[in-house]
Amino acid sequence: MNYRNIIAGKLAAYLNLDEDMINKLVEVPPKSDMGDFAFPCFQLSKTIKKSPNLIAIDIKENLGCIDGFEKIEALGPYINFFVSKGEFVKEVINKVLEEKDDYGHSNDGAGKNVIVEYCSANIAKPFHVGHLFTTMLGNSLYKIFKFQGYNAIGINHLGDWGTQFGKLIYAYIHWGDEEALEKEPIKEMFRVYVKFHEEAEKNPCLDDEGRRHFKLLEDGNPIEMELWSKFKELSLKEFDRLFKLLNVSFDSFDGESFYTDKMDTVIRELEDKELLTESNGAKVVFLDEENMPPCIIKKADGATIYATRDLAAVFYRKKTYDFYKNIYVVAKDQTLHFKQVFTTVKKMGYDWADDCIHVSFGLVRFPDKKLSTRKGNVVFLEDLLYEAISKTEEIINDKNPNLENKKEVAKKVGIGAVVFTYLKNSRERDIVFDWNEMLSFEGETGPYVQYTYARGKSILRKLGEGTDEVNYSKLLSNEEFELVKQLSKFNEVVKQALDKLQPSIITRYVIDISKAFNKFYTAINISNSHDEISRSSRLNLVKASLQVIKNGLSLIGLETVDEM
Ligand code: ARG
Repeated sequence: MNYRNIIAGKLAAYLNLDEDMINKLVEVPPKSDMGDFAFPCFQLSKTIKKSPNLIAIDIKENLGCIDGFEKIEALGPYINFFVSKGEFVKEVINKVLEEKDDYGHSNDGAGKNVIVEYCSANIAKPFHVGHLFTTMLGNSLYKIFKFQGYNAIGINHLGDWGTQFGKLIYAYIHWGDEEALEKEPIKEMFRVYVKFHEEAEKNPCLDDEGRRHFKLLEDGNPIEMELWSKFKELSLKEFDRLFKLLNVSFDSFDGESFYTDKMDTVIRELEDKELLTESNGAKVVFLDEENMPPCIIKKADGATIYATRDLAAVFYRKKTYDFYKNIYVVAKDQTLHFKQVFTTVKKMGYDWADDCIHVSFGLVRFPDKKLSTRKGNVVFLEDLLYEAISKTEEIINDKNPNLENKKEVAKKVGIGAVVFTYLKNSRERDIVFDWNEMLSFEGETGPYVQYTYARGKSILRKLGEGTDEVNYSKLLSNEEFELVKQLSKFNEVVKQALDKLQPSIITRYVIDISKAFNKFYTAINISNSHDEISRSSRLNLVKASLQVIKNGLSLIGLETVDEM
């Protein structure tokens, strides 16, 4: 039963208004004593020309009884609807237990292709803590779209082309160590790359050398090509290890180098459409009317750049995937770049430029460290994740020393704690790392939610799964009913997260369910239920709650553990 639709249907019929419009106005009040759903009459008073309070009374009088609701009341400018509790509880729990891992799913996106580009790391460089943001944010959006029936395509637009590879090649030829490269490829590539920048500070000619080697690479010179391929292969191998650890995957790794032979067509089209202008030797698209600096397409030396490759990529994506949305999960500091690229596409006459979206996010800070890649002063992501795992293991050793698969649990909980921290707040906000807060079993943390899940599992282990004989009208205490109400909201929450492209909405929701679950667990002694039927009904409520926590966590990229 879709209560919201029922309310909207009845109201629309009575008021003779559009049902979708009414549907959007239906609210869920913050407190249950104000009803389970409410309809505000402010908007209507503009057209009906009566006060909202009087409209509320009038509608209430005329609606009569509605199936599925036990009470309707007019309160001030609102009409409050109270669902028939027993029916409601039964329906929600049955639905969760029937649909299991699919609970919360919809087919809203059937037939629509959505590209989610995330991670997009630069090869030959270590992942730092900022990369985890795009990776986990994108991974979550990818899953959310899939869960709502879209055909999601996850792209890792690798940074595998550009002058920096000329620098790296020069540096490796001069200072590289083959053995070290085989052993710890990224560390070695990064070492010589950092050295290049140190040396270039003393001797600026090196920058020319870097450019020269990149030109040789672009021209397909065997030595440069071979080194570049090797760098790429070794990088991908290491990246893969990290993706496995994080449990993320991609459908495509077409990165910048993939577009090198696809830029000419775009440049020609820009010329044909008279959008390309010479400026100081470079070729640019002026965006003055849009109040933006020009988008540089070709540098004075003829080399193409980042934006050109992104232009080629956006056309390739449109042609290949005919996308409904093309989403880029990339840090805030590239906002202008994406605006320039999308605006250029629009100027070329393609309205689908509006379907390209830059999903940006804030900075990641450590209270005691500064981050800069060039100087080699960075927090490596892998180190950070292993630190989270080992710190979690210490906590588990302390709390539950006899736990069997400690290592596996510490991995899921430790990494989960980090990921949860990233996805907890609105993505534009900066993140300041705090180990104690992040790993705490209390408060709004990953371990808190995972611990709630494990606690539920232990109840089921202890008390058994209950029998099939249930009567959900026995679950009408405040704590039980509030928990069920939370569970019922899942699909709506997922849709909101999708609309706003904010996984944090789901993270917040799993926190709310965990809180409601713990209240229920504290208030009601399940094993002391006075009859078998109540006990089984409650055990089913436990099962349903765990299922929804699991589904929610999975959408933000966390796994559950049965014991911790
Ligand atoms: N590789 C780039 C970087 O690390 C990010 C790429 C973003 N995606 C894109 N299509 N431009 O800064």
